[in-house]
Amino acid sequence: MPQLEVGGAQPYTVTVEAGALNRASVPETRVALIADAGLPTGSVVRAEQAFRPELTITVPRGDACKTFEVLGGVLSRLAAVNLPRDGAVIGLGGGATTDLAGFAAACYLRGVAYYSVPTTLLGMVDAAVGGKTGINLPEGKNLVGAFWPPRAVWCDPELLGSLPPAVFREGAAEVYKHGLIADPSLLSRVLSPEFRPGQRGFETTLADAVAVKAGVVTRDLTEQGERAYLNFGHTLAHAIEAVTRHGISHGDAVGYGMHYAALLSREMGGADLSGHTRRFLEWQQPRPLPPLDFGELNAYMARDKKADSAGVRFVLLHDLARPYLARVPEETLQSGFGEWQAELGSLRSLNF
Ligand SMILES: NC(=O)c1ccc[n+]([C@@H]2O[C@H](COP(=O)([O-])OP(=O)(O)OC[C@H]3O[C@@H](n4cnc5c(N)ncnc54)[C@H](O)[C@@H]3O)[C@@H](O)[C@H]2O)c1
Repeated sequence: MPQLEVGGAQPYTVTVEAGALNRASVPETRVALIADAGLPTGSVVRAEQAFRPELTITVPRGDACKTFEVLGGVLSRLAAVNLPRDGAVIGLGGGATTDLAGFAAACYLRGVAYYSVPTTLLGMVDAAVGGKTGINLPEGKNLVGAFWPPRAVWCDPELLGSLPPAVFREGAAEVYKHGLIADPSLLSRVLSPEFRPGQRGFETTLADAVAVKAGVVTRDLTEQGERAYLNFGHTLAHAIEAVTRHGISHGDAVGYGMHYAALLSREMGGADLSGHTRRFLEWQQPRPLPPLDFGELNAYMARDKKADSAGVRFVLLHDLARPYLARVPEETLQSGFGEWQAELGSLRSLNF
């Protein structure tokens, strides 16, 4: 079974293998399963057969579950069955569900064991590994949370078979990003027709993408340094999500944001990697953007978590697999934005 080790104070294993869920088990005898409402019944039944939970709590799909209201409901149900301190919570679903489930495990009785079974591509290569858990506030996403690493993660590519193609392509943006910042062999593999669940080689590509995240969070769990590189493309992406009020999904926004970051990287003296990010956009076919105003986006970018009092810091690339953090002058942000918009215009007329 391909297993990846995530190090740190509490090391754990990520298993990446078709059928991994059928063979999964936990040592705790009393467990609760928190399941994504968007899953096909068969996936939930498979998890129930593996873990034998004493209760299954279904939570709303997507970010609708990352609220105090849903969290409170989940905690009350755990308390109602008297889930003990040596019990466990298992999250089954997309990144939103595993963020909520992990946070519920971190809060309940000041922390019980947590296990994660991600069911989206993004969940497998990003959200489920690394220990960040949390919910949203009306004021912004992920503003409440805790580092609460799972005891084990099972990434079963068979679970991805039911994923809508657009959600799969959104997750592919994070796989491609891992290629750009750390493992360039992923780039051509993502764009190949083999990059689909069930195809030969898919599992290896998935495991290699998970390995990038596992390696980074092993070395830097709490984002003191290297973990920030995982935000390549995300500074503009978060601003696009905010100004479009999430009309553009995270994965689509990351596709657009990576192309902007590649253009900025070249402007700041790095290699020209914009061909890679352009090819990814052609493959991803993200939802077309509405007209965007640089001033408005820039105001959001200035609030980015990598910003400090001296300005916004961008993750840029000297070259493939050579990320770094840099302050980018506002004139460069603006001229890069003009170029980015012009390129998107031509891409759209060719392909979108
Ligand atoms: N904790 C972290 O480090 C981290 C990292 C990245 C993103 N996130 C969070 O992850 C969330 C996004 O995760 P996501 O992209 O997985 O989206 P998601 O959780 O919103 O799921 C997308 C949709 O797919 C559905 N779905 C999930 N699995 C399915 C399956 N197997 N078959 C059919 N439908 C399925 C869900 O019900 C939902 O409608 C955001 O809340 C984001 O903040 C967390």
